[in-house]
Amino acid sequence: MACESMKNKVWEIQGNFGIQNLKQTERDVSETLAPKEVLVRLTATSLNYRDYLMVIGTYNPRQKLPLIPCSDGAGVVEAVGSEVSVWKKGDRVLPIFAQKWTDGAPNMDNLRSTLGGPNDGCLAHYGTFAEEGLVATPSHLTDKEAATLGCAGLTAYNAVVNFGGIEPGSDVLCLGTGGVSLFALQFAKMMGARVIITSSSDEKLERAKALGADETINYKTKANWERDVRKHTKMAGADLIIEVGGAGTMPKSMMSVKPYGTIALIGVLAGGESSLSLYPILMQGVKVQGVIVGSRSDFVRMNRAIEHNKMKPVVDKVFGWSEVPEALEYLQTGKHFGKVVVSWE
Ligand SMILES: NC(=O)c1ccc[n+]([C@@H]2O[C@H](COP(=O)([O-])OP(=O)(O)OC[C@H]3O[C@@H](n4cnc5c(N)ncnc54)[C@H](OP(=O)(O)O)[C@@H]3O)[C@@H](O)[C@H]2O)c1
Repeated sequence: MACESMKNKVWEIQGNFGIQNLKQTERDVSETLAPKEVLVRLTATSLNYRDYLMVIGTYNPRQKLPLIPCSDGAGVVEAVGSEVSVWKKGDRVLPIFAQKWTDGAPNMDNLRSTLGGPNDGCLAHYGTFAEEGLVATPSHLTDKEAATLGCAGLTAYNAVVNFGGIEPGSDVLCLGTGGVSLFALQFAKMMGARVIITSSSDEKLERAKALGADETINYKTKANWERDVRKHTKMAGADLIIEVGGAGTMPKSMMSVKPYGTIALIGVLAGGESSLSLYPILMQGVKVQGVIVGSRSDFVRMNRAIEHNKMKPVVDKVFGWSEVPEALEYLQTGKHFGKVVVSWE
């Protein structure tokens, strides 16, 4: 399938890491598509903390440059290869995080097929993906909304729905009000759970209540927030904890979870390494479950749940194409509530 010679406007990390080394440039759109390839005209991306770490060079200091950052994307099929049967021109699609991870457990090969590093990502006007590297966009969502789903949405879905071991009436603790935590709040409510959420901001906690949070805790003013979690769960502890803080919050999460409960270990916003006592895990049979986004079939199932429940992602702010550095700096401040999006249509 030939694509007329087109230019692709992209943002690249050039030469060295750092937001100052993010540059706008143009690449050629490949003249031909392989039989199973799909050319997508991308219109939006959303920023994940991983994207910020990738740009500043701490996620993978050995990442080859130049790199187009950002794993999340949304867009419209522009052209398809001769053997593509799933998609046609005009279909609304979302690229999947790990392009080769279609189903089941991941392997080392498909974990190396992630967008926004090591593979080029979605901060581009066009992207070429394998037929199986895409899912359909939930029809009630705009591209700006749907561009939030690929990483934060799917991670939260897997943590709550596939690994959470929860049922209606379970207690779920979400840490903070970033992208992953607010998706986890929404999926936990969808499943009939009770949600306790923490934040550094009372104003954000009020907004979380409006989204359905049952109990709120300000982790800045309540230094011993694990005691409040116990209080809110009649001293039983939470069934599931959405652990995005990592080393800095893990000791308190271990004191907040109930015996045989689950800690879904997702992020390292408060540090990635520490010396940690393992006794609470052992003595209370706590399940610590690492989460790495999810597969294509997880994404398809999540989108079905989102469509049936008419769920809307929480978009905090939308930046324009020329405002990518500002958008990354804004993400880094932690002022956002939910997702930060970049859109160019
Ligand atoms: N494992 C995976 O597959 C996967 C996928 C996606 C993300 N992640 C990771 O998960 C983490 C969260 O990602 P995200 O996209 O949701 O990030 P984000 O949107 O940037 O989340 C930022 C928010 O996290 C909260 N936070 C920061 N430090 C905290 C602390 N010590 N205790 C409690 N809350 C804290 C703050 O909420 P308040 O402002 O309300 O205080 C902050 O606004 C990151 O480390 C990211 O790399 C992992």
